[in-house]
Formats: sequence, C-alpha cells, structure tokens
Amino acid sequence: MRVIVCKNYDEISKTAADIIASQVILKPDSVLGLATGSTPVGTYKLLAEKNKAGVIDFKDVTTFNLDEYYPISPENDQSYRYFMNDNLFNHINIDITRTHVLNGMAEDTDKECDEFEKMIEAAGGIDLQVLGIGQNGHIGFNEPDEELVAKTHLTGLTENTIQANSRFFEKIEDVPTQSLTMGIATILATRKIIILASGKNKHEAVDKLINGGITTSNPATMLKLHPDVIVICDEEAYTGK
Ligand code: PGA
Repeated sequence: MRVIVCKNYDEISKTAADIIASQVILKPDSVLGLATGSTPVGTYKLLAEKNKAGVIDFKDVTTFNLDEYYPISPENDQSYRYFMNDNLFNHINIDITRTHVLNGMAEDTDKECDEFEKMIEAAGGIDLQVLGIGQNGHIGFNEPDEELVAKTHLTGLTENTIQANSRFFEKIEDVPTQSLTMGIATILATRKIIILASGKNKHEAVDKLINGGITTSNPATMLKLHPDVIVICDEEAYTGK
C-alpha cells in the first residue's frame, strides 16, 4: 500500500485527478469505479476542467458507482445518481449510457445487484476504483460488522453513517436507512484503487488503514489484501492534528 500525504484538500484533488487522467490517457476505454461524498468533489471538478481543456477524453470511458441509497429516486437531489450527474457526468463528454449507478428504486434488489456484478464483468472489470473512507472505516456502504458481504448487496446503514450523512438532508429522519453497495470482494477485484481522505475526523480510520491489522470492524483494512492501493490523504487525516 502506498501512502501519499498531501498538504491539504486541494492537493488531494489534484493528485487524484492526475492519476485518473493518466489512467484515461493510457487506456481511453478505461472502466472507472467512482465514489460519491464530499471528498471526491474537488477531483471531479478538476477532471471536468481537464476534459474541457482537451487533456482527457471520456467518450469511450465506462463507469460504475460504488453505491446508492435505497430506496431513493434517481431524480432526488440526494441520490448518488443525481450527485454524479451534477458533479461530473453533466460536465464531461461521457456517454451517459455508459455510466452505471445502482437503481435505488429497483423492486428486486437481488436481481439489481446480480446484474450490476454481471455488467462489471461484461465491461472487462474495473481498471481504477476511487474510494472515500467513512469515519468508521466503511468503504462504499460496507459498514463495520462481524461479517462482511462479498458481492454487491442491499445493506443497512449504521447510526454513525446516518448521522454523518444527515448534513446533506433537511432532517435526520430523511436519511435513507438502507443502501445498495458493491461488496468487499467487488472492490478487491478492481485492478487499482485510490482511496481519498481529508480532515482530522478521518484520522482514526486512516491510521487503522495504514497501521492496523485486517479487521471487519474497519472494512477499509481489507484493502491490505489488494496489491495496488494508493492512500491519498492530507496532513490532518494523516496526523490527526
Ligand atoms: P465523505 O464520505 O467523502 O463525505 O467524507 C466518505 C464516505 O463516507 O465514504
């Protein structure tokens, strides 16, 4: 696992955007795994700028998002489909039919998850996966637990995550209590991973990720089983100061 410690959030965004841009330049038909949350917003902004400047072309790129609330409509401005359109897809020349976000309105969630896995496989697998990390060490919506589910699945959100995500909603009761998420095995099957973390409140999770053992009580530590992971964090997340 490589660790890149950046001065601040802007530097994290620049580093992550440069890595994603390099991936797309080297392989124009790359399959990208994307994440939502506040951390990658700066990265997506820079990618849109690079696209406008003609540095990268998303025409042949395919994307799969990590997770989506359940139930939620894609038109809801708190859905991750809305977030991705708003923060990235509407600003780049990607073919929207090549962007895959789990359907938060799916009636048969098992079928939805199974088809999502099959689509990743049919696309040739994910070349580069972008991850954030929860304060509790979750990746996607794989929350700390005694057991973790391997493949894409429907899951409940922990109190900690509902609390953390309530900042985006009018009131905490509005935060969906379930989600659809790639599983740990889905994430570990990707070829390359960058995991972004900014701010003191991520220090404990980042410290366990870098220095701790592998435990399902901090799902991010499972990334130690992957041969090509880069942690991109700022000094605050790294030192806790
Ligand atoms: P954040 O979320 O980027 O909004 O901090 C990350 C996560 O919970 O995975």
